Amino acid sequence: MGPAHSSRWTGATSSGPDEVTSSLSKMEKYSSSPIPLVEDAPNKKQTVCIFGTGDFGRSLGQKMMQCGYSIVFGSRNPQDSSLIPPGATVLPHAEAAEMSDIIILAIHRTCYNFLETLKEMLSGKVLVDVSNNLKINQYPQTNAEYLAQLIPESKVVKAFNSVSAWALQSGALDASRQVFVCGNDSKSKEKVMDIVRSLGLTPLDKGSLLATKEIEDYPLQLFPMWKYPIYLSLAISAFFFFYSVIRDIVYNYVVKNKDFSFFIAISIPNRVCPIVALILLALVYLPGIFAAILQLYRGTKYRRFPDWLDKWMLCRKQLGLVALAFAFLHVLYTLVIPIRYYVRWRLNSYVLQQAFNNKTDPFNTVQGWISDSYVALGILGFFLFVLLGITSLPSVSNSVNWREFRFVQSYLGYLTLVLCTAHTLVYGGKRFLHVRSYPWGLPAAYILSLIIPCIVLVIKFVLILPCIDRPLTAIRQGWERKPKHVCEPYNNLSRSSV
Ligand SMILES: Cc1cc2nc3c(=O)[nH]c(=O)nc-3n(C[C@H](O)[C@H](O)[C@H](O)COP(=O)(O)OP(=O)(O)OC[C@H]3O[C@@H](n4cnc5c(N)ncnc54)[C@H](O)[C@@H]3O)c2cc1C
Ligand SMILES: NC(=O)c1ccc[n+]([C@@H]2O[C@H](COP(=O)([O-])OP(=O)(O)OC[C@H]3O[C@@H](n4cnc5c(N)ncnc54)[C@H](OP(=O)(O)O)[C@@H]3O)[C@@H](O)[C@H]2O)c1
Ligand code: HEM
Repeated sequence: MGPAHSSRWTGATSSGPDEVTSSLSKMEKYSSSPIPLVEDAPNKKQTVCIFGTGDFGRSLGQKMMQCGYSIVFGSRNPQDSSLIPPGATVLPHAEAAEMSDIIILAIHRTCYNFLETLKEMLSGKVLVDVSNNLKINQYPQTNAEYLAQLIPESKVVKAFNSVSAWALQSGALDASRQVFVCGNDSKSKEKVMDIVRSLGLTPLDKGSLLATKEIEDYPLQLFPMWKYPIYLSLAISAFFFFYSVIRDIVYNYVVKNKDFSFFIAISIPNRVCPIVALILLALVYLPGIFAAILQLYRGTKYRRFPDWLDKWMLCRKQLGLVALAFAFLHVLYTLVIPIRYYVRWRLNSYVLQQAFNNKTDPFNTVQGWISDSYVALGILGFFLFVLLGITSLPSVSNSVNWREFRFVQSYLGYLTLVLCTAHTLVYGGKRFLHVRSYPWGLPAAYILSLIIPCIVLVIKFVLILPCIDRPLTAIRQGWERKPKHVCEPYNNLSRSSV
């Protein structure tokens, strides 16, 4: 709902749930289009009080006024209110609190103690706590719980803390529209959710005040799900970068006295990027394998996975997307191979060598097949990789059902892993058999990169064998080896195959 649209709702929402219902039923009776709701909506403005005329209080007040609310600010210095949005009233706290049943506290937690002096006045009112802390676990009690303890007769609702003053000013169009709301009194929560909706934002009911810890921690987190995938990718990149520098540059310099330091610009990144992409892709599917083995071992799915596995499962999307980014870089680096000076020089000297020797190498069909096959496998693998990335966009994932999503993510995901692994295997070909492929005894980086993908694919192959897949599927459908209550459809299975 855009801001213009939402402001039309305000009249309806501001007058309480009963009037909203009556407006809706009026609309249903007299109109077939939603537009008359605006005309039928009562013109009465709901008054909302905001304590604090700082950045957040002013931005929220201005936004609410644009959406049809009448705003009264409660301030320590009502006379000094030059920055207040025109049209708003500024009063001392006690007088402002009298004007509304809903009071939004746009002040810091550290200032809450002055509210105790207004205890009687605030009794029975809805107090909206918007506050954030400077760091996670700063206080033993959450801000909203502290407020509820300070003014026990009030109805505390936590909301708006994940929206910034800047986003409210800029129309909230380019920031998250989601507003987490929680509170112990459902009617008060509903009133606050109505306000959220009328501002063109999306309320998300997180339940009672017990949820405040999660809500207050949310704005303080920095890409929580991306942290591990990014750290991991950097660690793998660093390892393979230094490994390749030693193997391809230092070795040639020390043993052959050749300077290949320019490999650092393209050759080595074009080695590191696909290797990281392949390993991360395999790591996306490895936790599913661990989960399957655990479930088979335990004979039930009704037991929690260890914490590390839970966390790993939860960041698979981010792991996959980081892998896609590295694969993308590999494709870009590959595009420039033909225009590289080093590649053109090697090609020219090869041609000249044949001319000097007066001998043309015969066309090697097998080599032609190998070269075309590994590139074709890479292209197909990359195509499916991109498809996985596209289906993870919220707009796409919301438009497919769970089965379709799993088909793409799980089945096509494994196919992507098979194609990318095959691409690397065919690229390597028989090179791993040559002794000169092991300078200082070090295997080529691509050989190391194949270890995890090959392990994942081999175990997956074992897991899809019917004798293992059947009990695993049954377990995932709710069957237990030692059931507390026996379910009919799985009785036979427990006797026969497991
Ligand atoms: C580019 C890219 C984008 C991606 N985007 C997304 C994305 O948007 N969303 C996403 O979720 N993943 C995403 N992934 C990760 C990955 O593709 C999916 O997680 C995929 O579903 C994993 O498949 P799987 O077969 O290993 O496991 P799953 O399909 O998760 O699981 C296999 C089986 O285990 C069961 N199972 C799964 N979790 C549990 C559990 N906690 N308890 C009990 N049983 C369980 C399931 O019922 C299923 O039968 C992405 C990957 C890539 C490469
Ligand atoms: N800024 C944001 O983007 C944002 C986003 C989400 C949540 N929040 C939360 O919103 C609240 C306000 O943030 P802000 O950025 O607006 O802070 P701010 O600019 O510092 O404003 C705080 C206001 O609180 C009032 N105040 C200060 N000391 C007080 C005291 N001792 N007693 C009573 N009132 C006092 C003042 O208003 P008067 O001078 O009028 O009394 C002051 O302007 C905080 O809890 C913050 O965590 C802010
Ligand atoms: C359009 C798609 C792709 C093309 C055209 C392509 C092409 C290539 C080429 C030309 C090489 C050899 C590079 C060199 O000699 O320096 C190569 C190597 C490699 N590719 Fe790809 N590739 C593609 C996609 C992928 C994807 C999606 C992955 C894995 C996720 C991948 C993994 C690898 C790996 C691991 C190597 C070996 C790197 C090394 O050790 O040098 N490729 N690819």
